[in-house]
Amino acid sequence: AIMAGSDKGELTFTELPHGQDETFHVAPGYEHDVLISWGDKVLADAPAFDPHNQSAQAQSKQFGYNNDFVGFLSLPLGSDNSDHGLLAVNHEYTISELMFPGSPKTDQMSKAQADIDMMAHGLSIIEIKKTDGKWAVVQGSKYNRRITPVTEMRMTGPAAGSDRLRTAISQDGVRTLGTYGNCAGGVTPWGTVLTAEENVQNYFKGDPTKTKEAENYRRFGLSGEHEYAWANYYDRWNLAKSPNEPLHVGWIVEIDPFDPESRPQKRTALGRCKHEGCNVYVNKDNRVVAYTGDDQRFEYVYKFVSKNKYDPSNRAANMRLLEEGTLYVAEFTDGGLVTWRPLVFGQGPLTAANGFRNQGDVMIDVRKAADLLGATRMDRPEDVEVNPQTGSVFVMLTNNSKRKEGDTNAANPRAKNQSGHIIEMTPPDGDHTADRFMWDMFIIAGNPQTEGAKYHPDISANGWFADPDNCAFDNHGNLWIATDGAYKDGVADGVWACAVSGEARALTKHFLRTPLQAELCGPFFTPDNQSFFCSVQHPGEEGTYDQPTTRWPDFRNDLPPRPSVVAINKTGGGRIGS
Ligand code: FEO
Ligand code: CA
Ligand code: CA
Ligand code: CA
Repeated sequence: AIMAGSDKGELTFTELPHGQDETFHVAPGYEHDVLISWGDKVLADAPAFDPHNQSAQAQSKQFGYNNDFVGFLSLPLGSDNSDHGLLAVNHEYTISELMFPGSPKTDQMSKAQADIDMMAHGLSIIEIKKTDGKWAVVQGSKYNRRITPVTEMRMTGPAAGSDRLRTAISQDGVRTLGTYGNCAGGVTPWGTVLTAEENVQNYFKGDPTKTKEAENYRRFGLSGEHEYAWANYYDRWNLAKSPNEPLHVGWIVEIDPFDPESRPQKRTALGRCKHEGCNVYVNKDNRVVAYTGDDQRFEYVYKFVSKNKYDPSNRAANMRLLEEGTLYVAEFTDGGLVTWRPLVFGQGPLTAANGFRNQGDVMIDVRKAADLLGATRMDRPEDVEVNPQTGSVFVMLTNNSKRKEGDTNAANPRAKNQSGHIIEMTPPDGDHTADRFMWDMFIIAGNPQTEGAKYHPDISANGWFADPDNCAFDNHGNLWIATDGAYKDGVADGVWACAVSGEARALTKHFLRTPLQAELCGPFFTPDNQSFFCSVQHPGEEGTYDQPTTRWPDFRNDLPPRPSVVAINKTGGGRIGS
């Protein structure tokens, strides 16, 4: 962390007013540039984007749709350069009505369209460089890569090789193909990218009750009512033909972006659920702790503790840290205590009597295992991230409209929670491997007039937000909160920032806002905190290709709105937030 001697990291920027319109806004004194948009070149031989002449082959070389997580990794590897690096970006999902002329609904998509749609998923890795204060993609870089639902990958950890993972594609239960539904993620201290497979249930068609995995699929929420057209054309997503295929998704995937030939690894030791993201912290004993949330109403917060230790001089060994260790699930009790319950086969109820044969089963059925351990059902746990300055852990809980009166608890205190809240967890003596933490309510979000809202009393009229989803910390430990689902009371989704300690604790200030109907994802700082990258996802979501509600960012009559990654700098340079 770079800390200038006299700079205390105060958030002195001038707040942006609340509002909603068809373009992107950032606080006065800051500049934003669109770095890359859906359809732009990633690989050197990608054709120029033309939505009227799109093909799967073109899309497989171009930037995908609905950018979510962004992670910056300095180049060269191991440096803390802030003007040159790699950007890893998730492409979470697609919206056929906004992508194709004629605005087809998913069910009406042709095979050619379904193939394009598939190639618009996954991730992009791009090399980027800042010249004269402006970021640009390095065209033709050897690092530039597309990862898609058909990229060759491997299962690792306790479930790898399980008979339950055997499919036509995977005779050994180890080989696997591709990733999709990639929501948020994280960057590890050893220079890899973690990407979280979230809403993977939406791709499968058929009757899950007719498979051997009926119990797992019911608990996962996989109904066979697919929202994507892939299953119409490929047996892989047809439960009648590929009954085990859903067990290949719902994992954390680790990618080495510095080796474009590397095969991504699915880390089954972190459990299978609707992972929102995954953030790794090196504990004081050098074991690594990975925090992850399962983003669905009434699901859980998890942490993984590695068996082996991080060694800054042995990257190859670090690459295997997430293969072996113990996964825990959180129980939040009213007295401010978090108890981490280990998900270990043979311990407590995780035995053959409850259908578990081995640790692989515990990881595949991790929600069921967590149910049996009495974990606390939360209001949609999204990003879970460690504050690098204070060592405390912040949990974004986005909302839960289905929580009933009488089913609230101290950690989820509002019935019909429309706007979410943020919890701070504190490990004892900074030991993240400990079985017990303390927790505290940090913010209860929403319009301050809403029942139960809680912020610093001095927030301005623009300082409130709703639906915290992703977060990031700057080098001074300030929390930067990105929202998904606000659009309440004339407020767009965007970013709000606050201190986490001292007199300005929880005094949130409005920093940026998205074009109509977009959510804001994946904020990420360069190491010097002078640039800030973020994703504008699903701009113009309520419109169609033929009748758009915005044409951000191009504002050209021949282009629909395009999800894009935005780079933000302070005009003339300086720390973001100052
Ligand atoms: Fe993809 Fe949990 O938002
Ligand atoms: Ca999210
Ligand atoms: Ca984050
Ligand atoms: Ca969300």
